Amino acid sequence: MCGIVGYTGVKPAAPILLEGLRRLEYRGYDSAGVCVGNDGALSVVKRAGKIKDLRAIVPKDLAGFWGIGHTRWATHGGVTDLNAHPHADCSGKITIAHNGIIENFAGLKEKLLSEDHLFLSETDSEVIAHLIESVYDGDLERAVKEALALLKGTYGIVVMHADEPGKVVGARNGSPLVLGIGEGEMFLASDVTAMMAYTKQVVYIEDGEVVTVQPSGFRTSDLHDNSITKKVEHIGWEIEEIEKQGFATYMEKEIFEQPEAILRAMRGRLDLEQATGHLGGLNLSSRELLNVERVKIVAAGTSFHAGIVGAYLLESIARIPATAELASEVRYRNPIVERGALHFVVSQSGETADTLYAMRELKRKGATVLGVCNVVGSTIARESDGGVYIHSGPEIAVASTKAFTSQMTVFHIFTLLMARMRNMSYEQGAQIAKELEAIPGYVSQILAEKEQIRALATKYSWAKDVLFLGRGINYPVALEGALKLKEISYIHAEGYSAAEIKHGPIARINERTPSVFLVPDDRLRDKVISNMKEVKARAGKVIAVCSQGDDEVASIADDTIQVPRVHEIVSPFVMVVPLQLFAYYCALELGRDVDQPRNLAKSVTVE
Ligand code: AGP
Repeated sequence: MCGIVGYTGVKPAAPILLEGLRRLEYRGYDSAGVCVGNDGALSVVKRAGKIKDLRAIVPKDLAGFWGIGHTRWATHGGVTDLNAHPHADCSGKITIAHNGIIENFAGLKEKLLSEDHLFLSETDSEVIAHLIESVYDGDLERAVKEALALLKGTYGIVVMHADEPGKVVGARNGSPLVLGIGEGEMFLASDVTAMMAYTKQVVYIEDGEVVTVQPSGFRTSDLHDNSITKKVEHIGWEIEEIEKQGFATYMEKEIFEQPEAILRAMRGRLDLEQATGHLGGLNLSSRELLNVERVKIVAAGTSFHAGIVGAYLLESIARIPATAELASEVRYRNPIVERGALHFVVSQSGETADTLYAMRELKRKGATVLGVCNVVGSTIARESDGGVYIHSGPEIAVASTKAFTSQMTVFHIFTLLMARMRNMSYEQGAQIAKELEAIPGYVSQILAEKEQIRALATKYSWAKDVLFLGRGINYPVALEGALKLKEISYIHAEGYSAAEIKHGPIARINERTPSVFLVPDDRLRDKVISNMKEVKARAGKVIAVCSQGDDEVASIADDTIQVPRVHEIVSPFVMVVPLQLFAYYCALELGRDVDQPRNLAKSVTVE
């Protein structure tokens, strides 16, 4: 969601800014623009549409060694060329690119209009350029600080001034900003993917901090001009990891990376000898873990679904009361932090605004909050009390796949650890540890059957409505299957507990509404079979994901996807991978932009 880049150095800025924006495309956007400074003049080129459209109108000879760029995800004002960033002040000497929302922009704009400032866009962001202009007296950094002190809301910004060549000022409050340090050049961006081709030395800018970069160095300070010393960190990802590596799309690559990603999430954490788990990053002693009386998991979207699986495991296996809740609801519910409660926030990006704000609210109330994140150095990872990286590698496709299975892996290991400290015997633990170790192999077996799933997707991609139905630990997997299908194919899909259909959704069943049933060979199999029969009795088409050789299910369903027969607690892995592939192939069949589906952003940094 909105991406910002900044560059200053010795190379032509335009190609570096455009390449940085291309790397940020995955965040989700609808327009883009750049501003390049040269000889005391700024040139802005921007338009609604994709980076390739912008690239087509950026003059090949656009000279200048410093500049800023932006991908916009519209919030205030439609998707138009004028609303695209960067925005300029009246003189055209100051330009800004902004990620976030300025809540008090209407009042500020009114005041600036009364002072004869001329606005060209409908955005909230443009007020920042005019505010800086109104206080500028030859020192851009100081003017930015003065202007920011008047803003309410969230921002990650980059700013430049024609009269201060080679300087870019960045600041952050609620929207991410990273500084990249090169040889005689500096980079600013919303995330490290934009700069990985040039440097691996980065500094994470925190809320309330301002960074001023010039080719020779940088300065970080707060809004009161107190200098801040920052730690330089090293990006652990390789540039190849953010390439498609021969796959048609990032989503396909990420689905097929799952066996390896799950293995990475387990490495050094699954102890087969002791039949337990080790999660060092939790920063909790064995005694503290033993004192945990309940677990509360908070997340959004796919991460929330992984959280429901986690809560189910903790209750049923470790016998610890556990719940999963939507971050967006927790924050405004005035949540109760109970003694003995351990909180987890789960977020692939580590930047999701709803999850981050919920975490801050919980911490404010004294909760111990652990993060389950993928992006190293992300805000949630840094602000949580401890946590676990899932180590999936970069997830670029908007639809989350490998992060989901890796998040589940972490909760499986945490459950094993907690259960072994409580009621679980060595023998039971050893059996579960063995099952967990086998997960990557099970997932590989399913991926090898992709052509069968592609054929099913071709057969059913006509559907306008699909129900996904599962029970127990696979209820959240049904939710996830529906989310995957709707977000990338735009087919309407809903996930329910299979038992719930009688309470409403069955009214939608007819020969035009297929249902995908999750029927592993577990305690609830017979119940789910009864639900399948109820759908069949109403002429509904049924696709069943079931265990290999389950002839009874095969005799009822119209089509089956047969997966390895596994222990109940491992079943979400073998159930979800076919649903990811089904959604993917349906979307391809319908000609959708799989990696960047309409209206969606990978990293949702506004509420
Ligand atoms: C997943 O396919 C979605 N694109 C979305 O629901 C996502 O899981 C959600 O926005 C949470 O993101 P996070 O894990 O980065 O916090």
